[in-house]
Amino acid sequence: MSSLISLTCLKCRQELPKTTRLLRCPQCQGLLDPQYDLERVRSVLTWETVARRPRSIWRWRELLPIEDERCVISLGEGGTPLVPSVRVGPAFGLRHLYILNDGMNPTGSLKDRSMAVVASKAVELGYRVITCDSSGNKAASLSAYAARAGLTSLMFCPSTTPPQKLLQIVAYGGRLVIIDTDRDGVARLYAELMQRRSAEWYDSGVSNPFRYEGKKTYAYEIAEALGACAPDWILHPAAGSMSVVKTWKGFGELERLGLVHTKPRLGAVQPENCAPIVAAYRKGARTVSPVEYLPTMAGGLSMPNPGDLGDLTLQAIRESDGAAVAVTEDEIVWGMRALWEEGIFSEPTGAVTIPALRGLMEQGIIQRGDTVVCIVTGTGFKDLHSLEQEVCVPRPVPAKLSALDEATQALLA
Ligand SMILES: Cc1ncc(COP(=O)(O)O)c(C=O)c1O
Repeated sequence: MSSLISLTCLKCRQELPKTTRLLRCPQCQGLLDPQYDLERVRSVLTWETVARRPRSIWRWRELLPIEDERCVISLGEGGTPLVPSVRVGPAFGLRHLYILNDGMNPTGSLKDRSMAVVASKAVELGYRVITCDSSGNKAASLSAYAARAGLTSLMFCPSTTPPQKLLQIVAYGGRLVIIDTDRDGVARLYAELMQRRSAEWYDSGVSNPFRYEGKKTYAYEIAEALGACAPDWILHPAAGSMSVVKTWKGFGELERLGLVHTKPRLGAVQPENCAPIVAAYRKGARTVSPVEYLPTMAGGLSMPNPGDLGDLTLQAIRESDGAAVAVTEDEIVWGMRALWEEGIFSEPTGAVTIPALRGLMEQGIIQRGDTVVCIVTGTGFKDLHSLEQEVCVPRPVPAKLSALDEATQALLA
């Protein structure tokens, strides 16, 4: 099963045993990063072996941190379609644009890749209660996986969370606390609460070292779909953006395993209204400072103070010769519409990579011959209110043929 051997602090490099229950480094509070015996993995994992396994993140089980197979909690997460673009790519003159539709995950967002792992880890470690703070998608996902595992889940969300996400959390049976503040306020209160309750509850919030490992599967799946090759670019919506960090780690592992020979450039995309990683990137800084922020329709990306997650993202961007890009609210709407025209129903947060791609092409950073993957991270069903402002559903017509004739003529005129 897993080839997990230890955890390493990403700040001071201290090594901890794989059985540790600590979420952060006891010396410096750095994030912990699971390490694997890649020599062992090399002897069992080939593209042929992987292709014979069912499509889900667990296809890559040697590179995920769950050691006891019986503890795996799965709803079939991952293995989402990499769809060739038929509108946006050709409109930009880009020959090889793919959209990874991660809204096709079991609860409709990217979070299933990581929450499946953390729920499995909670079972393996024997916890009964699992918790997180969230802008909505993470909590909905955790609620589903906790239900599946028979765990109690406890979630903390801001009052700005879209109602569809709140309904989803409660429907799966999660215990939900809606706090009358914004996403940043929830993060601060949750961190304080967890300092007092961390022994009893399994915290699957921003510090959990195991959950992010699920995001490495972006690298594995994209490389597999592109015939054992990395694309030139991968663009991802970014809040704390461990997705970018772990995609980079995943490609590093594939390279060390001899499964790919190149790595992609990575783009982290944030809304202009809340773009701390972009601000640090533009200044050439190595650390991310908190920013003043405004509300954004990309609510999943409303994280003005990503802390050391942001620093790690900057590092992954630098190492991959990538970019951090900010997009305006109007551009997000445009990106969402462009995806709808491709037949991909995205929520605003999921759509930010499309205008970012346009910007990077206009600047000549992405070239027409490049192979690009835009990750679309959440389905439109997650945030119908934002969508209602953008589309106009026609009123009913009388139930008679003449009315149908009139309506269809008007529609097709
Ligand atoms: C749809 C969606 N995309 C992207 C993100 C951000 O992902 P990350 O935390 O890896 O930056 C979120 C976070 O809530 C989200 O809901």
